[in-house]
Parts: sequence; C-alpha cells; structure tokens
Amino acid sequence: MEGCPKIYLTSNTIARGSGWVVTEALNAEFIIQEETATHPLPRAGTDLISWISEEVNMKLFTLFALIGLSLLLLSSASQINCDVSAQDAKKPPETIILAKESKLGQVTFHHLDHITKNRSADGTKPIACVECHHTAQPAAEALKHPPHKTVWPADRTTTLTAELLEKDPTAPAVNICTDCHARAETKPKLLPEIPKLKFEGSDEPTILTNQQAFHRNCGACHDAVVKARPDLTPPPPTSKKCVACHKKIAA
Ligand code: HEC
Ligand code: HEC
Ligand code: HEC
Ligand code: HEC
Repeated sequence: MEGCPKIYLTSNTIARGSGWVVTEALNAEFIIQEETATHPLPRAGTDLISWISEEVNMKLFTLFALIGLSLLLLSSASQINCDVSAQDAKKPPETIILAKESKLGQVTFHHLDHITKNRSADGTKPIACVECHHTAQPAAEALKHPPHKTVWPADRTTTLTAELLEKDPTAPAVNICTDCHARAETKPKLLPEIPKLKFEGSDEPTILTNQQAFHRNCGACHDAVVKARPDLTPPPPTSKKCVACHKKIAA
C-alpha cells in the first residue's frame, strides 16, 4: 500500500467531516481526508489530475492508502503503484449533499446518522441499508418487498451491510440512486430508461425520477416517523416541509 495517496473517490457525492472537497473533476469528485505538514493537500483551483500523478510519481506519499478507485483512476492506475485490495477500508459516507441542481436548494443528508442511530419509523432500530439501497441485495430478497424486483448487478448474491462494504473487496460497488432514478428527461446511467411504477390509486404509471424516488423514500419514512412518534422534537422533515430539507446556500 505504500506509495498510494489517500483519496476517496465517489461517483457523485460529497462527504464532509474532516474532508477536503473538490468537486466536478471530470465527473468524479475527490474527497481528500488527511493532510500533514509534509503532505499538504492541493488548494482550490489545483488541477487535481496532474496533482495526483505528480504526487504519486514523486513518491511523496508513503503512509497514505488508496481507498477508492473511479474509472478515471483505473485508467491511470498503471502509473500508480499500489494495491487495489486497499479497498477493504471502505466506509459509508458521513454526510452527502443531494439535490445540488434543485432550484429550491440543496439537501444535506446525514447518511451516517441514518445508519447508526435508531431511525426506523418507530425509533427502535437502525435502518437497514437495503431500505434505501433497494437494489443492493439478491433478487430473491428484493422480491419479498413488493414492488421491488430489480437488483444490481442482476446476479448479485450479497446484501449490502456496513460490514460487507468494509470487509469484502469483491462486493459490488454501491450504486447511487440517480444511476437509475435520473433527473426528468435524462437517460439513467444503468438502465435504458427511468423506471416506472403504477401506484395504487393512480391510472398512469409514475416515472420514478430522482425527485419521485427520493421524495417517496425519504418523505414516506419521515411521515411515518411523525405518525408513530408525534412528540419527537425536532420532527424529521415531512413530505410537505420542502424547505426543511432544501436549503439555499448563502452566496
Ligand atoms: C436512509 C437511506 C439510506 C440508508 C439507510 C443507507 N444509505 Fe447509503 N446512501 C443513501 C443515499 C441517498 C446516498 C447518495 C445517493 C446519491 O448520491 O444519489 C447513499 C450513498 C452511499 C454510498 C456512496 C455511493 C457513491 O458511490 O457515492 C455508500 C458507499 C453507501 N451509501 C453505503 C451504505 C451502507 C453500507 C448502508 C448501510 C449500513 C447505507 N448506505 C444505508 C441513502 C441511504
Ligand atoms: C440499479 C437501479 C436502481 C438504483 C441504484 C436505485 N433504484 Fe430505486 N428503483 C429502481 C427500479 C427499477 C424500481 C422499480 C421497482 C423495481 O423494479 O424494483 C425502483 C423503485 C424505487 C422506488 C419506488 C418503490 C417504493 O418502494 O416506493 C423508490 C422510492 C426508490 N426506487 C428509491 C430509490 C433510492 C432512494 C435509491 C438510492 C438509495 C434507489 N432507489 C436506487 C431502480 C433503482
Ligand atoms: C426509514 C426511515 C427514514 C428514511 C428512509 C429517511 N429518514 Fe431522514 N430521518 C429519519 C428519522 C427517524 C429522523 C429524525 C431523527 C431524530 O431527530 O431523532 C430523520 C431526520 C432527518 C433530517 C433532520 C435531521 C438530520 O439528520 O439532519 C433530515 C434532513 C433527513 N432525515 C433527511 C433524509 C433524507 C434526505 C432521506 C432520503 C435520502 C431520509 N432522511 C430518509 C428517518 C428516515
Ligand atoms: C426529506 C427531504 C425532502 C423534502 C421534505 C422535500 N425534498 Fe425535494 N428533494 C429531496 C431530495 C433528496 C431530492 C433529490 C436529490 C438528488 O437528485 O440528488 C429532491 C429533489 C427535488 C426536486 C428535483 C430537483 C432536480 O431538479 O433534480 C424538486 C423540484 C424538489 N425536490 C422539490 C420539492 C418540493 C416542492 C418539496 C415540498 C413539497 C420537497 N422537494 C420536499 C429531498 C426533499
């Protein structure tokens, strides 16, 4: 693992924490989480791709490990002399900024809190990864929760858990929702078209865009939380409380 920079790459999310965030570098975002006096991180405006290759080529890094690989890095992996099995330290992101393109404002989602705290509707247990990442389980499991049937990849045999992600380097990558639930009028990355479902009480199938998928997933649970636990303060943002989730960032 020596000679590898410690760089977390995710396909389109940003994590926070002690993170240093660079956005929009060739569709990938780079989250760099460690800085020491001898290994300073690049500053805003740095061309990250050159920075990485320079740093690596100059062998400045000895204690950093390469954690995630994007296609981008895979293509330059030949220059980077490091062990891809270093993927074993994969952790779910702490905080994710969603809805970056929404006119109403972006949504700050505390991913880790939703995993580690008792955030089921009744507040008695944590939320299973697959309650949100519903395609990250074997097809036979998904079918137990109609209307779900699609899984990714189609022949997967494992169910996403924090442990699987951390310990099994062969586990399939976690797909982000928008890989399938793309924005209206756009083609999703993984499917020929945005999935559609006919919901009870409606004649027409609903196109499960990002907006539909997130509002149904996030909003439905929050509505159930408020029903089950009316005294919870502050209450989670329910479906109608648009700007409890969407916040304009001060310019
Ligand atoms: C309450 C819903 C919810 C739960 C529960 C949840 N996640 Fe997530 N997760 C998300 C959302 C939303 C994203 C960001 C998707 C996007 O950017 O479109 C995400 C992103 C991720 C990513 C980053 C994927 C990428 O390439 O950017 C990983 C890894 C991940 N989750 C792992 C897990 C694991 C492991 C668990 C269970 C321990 C879990 N998640 C539980 C909603 C959830
Ligand atoms: C690999 C593609 C894919 C990914 C990734 C994916 N979905 Fe879906 N989603 C689908 C498909 C297809 C359906 C329609 C039902 C089916 O075929 O399983 C669906 C249905 C849904 C539904 C409607 C069904 C219901 O339970 O009400 C919601 C909500 C939803 N997805 C939310 C999400 C969220 C949130 C994420 C990310 C955490 C996500 N999906 C990731 C493909 C995907
Ligand atoms: C299965 C249930 C469940 C799902 C699914 C869920 N949440 Fe939550 N969420 C909760 C609960 C419970 C709380 C309140 C926790 C508390 O205050 O004790 C909460 C709180 C929040 C809060 C306010 C507090 C905080 O964490 O900052 C935001 C914002 C939020 N959720 C966003 C989201 C988004 C965005 C999604 C979808 C990607 C989502 N949630 C999906 C259960 C859920
Ligand atoms: C529980 C949190 C939450 C609440 C409440 C909520 N939203 Fe959203 N909204 C989201 C998330 C998360 C996304 C999709 C994120 C993504 O694609 O990254 C989204 C997406 C959208 C989009 C699509 C943005 C785009 O162009 O891609 C619109 C429009 C929107 N919301 C409007 C609303 C309105 C109007 C309300 C109130 C009726 C509302 N939202 C309530 C979390 C929320």
